[in-house]
Amino acid sequence: MKGRVLLVEDDDSIALVITAALEAEGYTVARCPSIAERDRLLAENTFGLMLTDVVLTDGDGMETLDRVRAAAPHMQVIILSAQNTLDTAVRASDTGAFEYFPKPFDLDELIRTVHQAIGASGQAEASDIPEDVAPGLPLVGRSPAMQTVYRMITRVLRNDLTVLILGESGTGKELVAEAIHQLGNRSTGPFIAVNTAAIPADLIESELFGHEKGAFTGAIARRVGKFEQARGGTLFLDEIGDMPLEAQTRLLRALQSGRIRRVGGTDEITLDCRIVAATNRDLMPMIAAGTFREDLYYRLAVVPIALPPLRERADDIEALARHFLGRAASEGLPRRQLTAAGAALLARQPWRGNVRELRNFVYRLALLARDEVIDAASIEPLLALDSAPQPLSGELHHAHAADFASALTSWLTEAEPPPGELYSAALAAFERPLFLHALSVTGGNQLRAARLLGINRNTLRKRLSELAIDPDEAAPARS
Ligand SMILES: Nc1ncnc2c1ncn2[C@@H]1O[C@H](COP(=O)(O)OP(=O)(O)OP(=O)(O)O)[C@@H](O)[C@H]1O
Ligand SMILES: [Mg+2]
Repeated sequence: MKGRVLLVEDDDSIALVITAALEAEGYTVARCPSIAERDRLLAENTFGLMLTDVVLTDGDGMETLDRVRAAAPHMQVIILSAQNTLDTAVRASDTGAFEYFPKPFDLDELIRTVHQAIGASGQAEASDIPEDVAPGLPLVGRSPAMQTVYRMITRVLRNDLTVLILGESGTGKELVAEAIHQLGNRSTGPFIAVNTAAIPADLIESELFGHEKGAFTGAIARRVGKFEQARGGTLFLDEIGDMPLEAQTRLLRALQSGRIRRVGGTDEITLDCRIVAATNRDLMPMIAAGTFREDLYYRLAVVPIALPPLRERADDIEALARHFLGRAASEGLPRRQLTAAGAALLARQPWRGNVRELRNFVYRLALLARDEVIDAASIEPLLALDSAPQPLSGELHHAHAADFASALTSWLTEAEPPPGELYSAALAAFERPLFLHALSVTGGNQLRAARLLGINRNTLRKRLSELAIDPDEAAPARS
């Protein structure tokens, strides 16, 4: 028996078709036409998945989903609706439903999605990656925040909606764009990435739309633009927040009309690609300041996907670190084992450069660590090295206040110093990275480090020896 499905549908013929198809796939189906019966069934049974219509005999199946969540928190929900408005779609996605199907729907597609949804709920944890989202893809991380991202990705796979990926630098925006392409129905077409920030302003149009021979000085031959190259596939417009205003206007016009014209050309070419855009900029203030077009924003952000910064999904850090160690080994670096304590130390770092910074750090670790087994002790010196170039500005102080409190909490749960030793143990734990930082920025010069810290040189020396910190080792090995 594969799983139990609750079908809440008042239309008999639709219910019949779905039930037959699901039973043929080995599912057990319970069916009811009303909200009242739904609630009763949920109170008495466990289901892996609920398929629900919106307009039911006794009310709105979507509005009452909170009750469903409360009764069955791990059950996935797929919404079916004949009210194919954007509003319904948006409301459906706001409920956190696994998927939303406008009627009429493709039955095979529905069954495929049922498999995915059951897979996602069936694995004890509600927080597992839907299997179909990850095959062979390098998207690592099972935190709730990433689950939301995966779910958003699944929503755009069977359509051509424009996606805007937002997130700090290094959070994986490009990777998500590639995933959408590879898993979507345009995967057989090309994936064309354009970094709009890297193209000189006066060449953007020709780059995107192409140009005819002689369109401008230097246009010695006809050139096919990125939009045309992406025909049948996906056009990834990266760093969209850095696009000059004039090019924004041209882009908007192309998206609105669904047609482009090569620079200097007269023929209209119909667009045939999915657009995925990305930026690490906060577009709202730019819109307010008039440097990013609001209408373009809404054109692009049909489906916005926000990638959370790594510090907000510390749960993913261990998995990512192990993943990158594996990758490093497969690329010829020494194979390393990461201890639990080492992973915990990594998970406590702020990773302001997000996954990219973690990745680079782990590669460096694989290269430089002394032992095959990587423990907290082999990580600390490298961490100190990394934090060296970051001055402790006032702004960072603010951000760190919360970090310190949470670092202390996690340290307390792990370290558990004996009563009466809490102060000295906490101080030692705090001093170590602090001294490593001071030594690192002063090139290991204890006098200057002491001055930077504002403590007596002899005190520093004494504490360094008590903490077994070798000042020379802590200094960055710069040439
Ligand atoms: N979830 C993830 N699993 C595995 N690797 C990841 C993940 N997210 C990001 N990476 C890796 O981190 C690095 C940075 O990711 P990516 O280039 O996609 O970031 P970005 O958001 O586009 O950054 P930027 O804004 O600077 O362009 C890449 O090497 C990518 O493969
Ligand atoms: Mg990028």
